[in-house]
Amino acid sequence: MKTIITLDGSSGVGKGTIAMLLAKKLGWHLLDSGALYRVLALAAQQNALEFDNEAALSEMASHLDVDFRPEEDGVKVYLKGEDVTQALRLEETANLASKVAIFPKVRAALLQYQQDAYQSPGLVADGRDMGTVVFADAPAKFFLTANATARAKRRYKQLKQKGNNANLADLEQTLIERDKRDSERKVAPLLAASDAKCIDTSLLSVDEVFDCVWQALPAAFRVQD
Ligand code: DC
Repeated sequence: MKTIITLDGSSGVGKGTIAMLLAKKLGWHLLDSGALYRVLALAAQQNALEFDNEAALSEMASHLDVDFRPEEDGVKVYLKGEDVTQALRLEETANLASKVAIFPKVRAALLQYQQDAYQSPGLVADGRDMGTVVFADAPAKFFLTANATARAKRRYKQLKQKGNNANLADLEQTLIERDKRDSERKVAPLLAASDAKCIDTSLLSVDEVFDCVWQALPAAFRVQD
């Protein structure tokens, strides 16, 4: 059995946290596919590319000089050798990422990079289309949902903890707009794979979501039990 777990869902459902905890417990690798789209958005911004220029964006996507380095205080992301970890987490970057992500050629350019992230002993992949496109043959798929208010509150807490400015009402509004763009795009929209287990995390703690995911994993993956 292929050792891949996919976790898809919109922003603020908690998939990043659960993916990190799963990868840690299993000793597997982690793919934060959203970070790739965010890096591309930053690179496009730095190079003053037009955000409707699919050809230029996909060309840039196919030559992205990005490096994910696990360090003591988490994964650091480098773009052309420059640490962009902080800039990557900004809501502005997330919105731009969602804009570059609508283009089929951009998604095609990033596909191989994501599939190459699969390494022994296994991979936990987090994103929007991990279970439907990038790892459609994964044996364990999850799709997390939560209402917009719960998601905005989580993002608010995360941003504040990292010392960023945030406004709850604005956050909820931009989350809703981003979901709409991600869900309505023609290629690889935000969608549960038909064989994904769906979990509504609105009223659940991190531990409860983790437990729910863990119990649903194939027994062969749960050697730590
Ligand atoms: O997961 P995130 O918030 O870091 O993602 C930022 C944006 O990137 C998201 O709004 C849409 C895009 N994205 C995508 O289209 N496909 C993915 N697999 C991951 C992210």
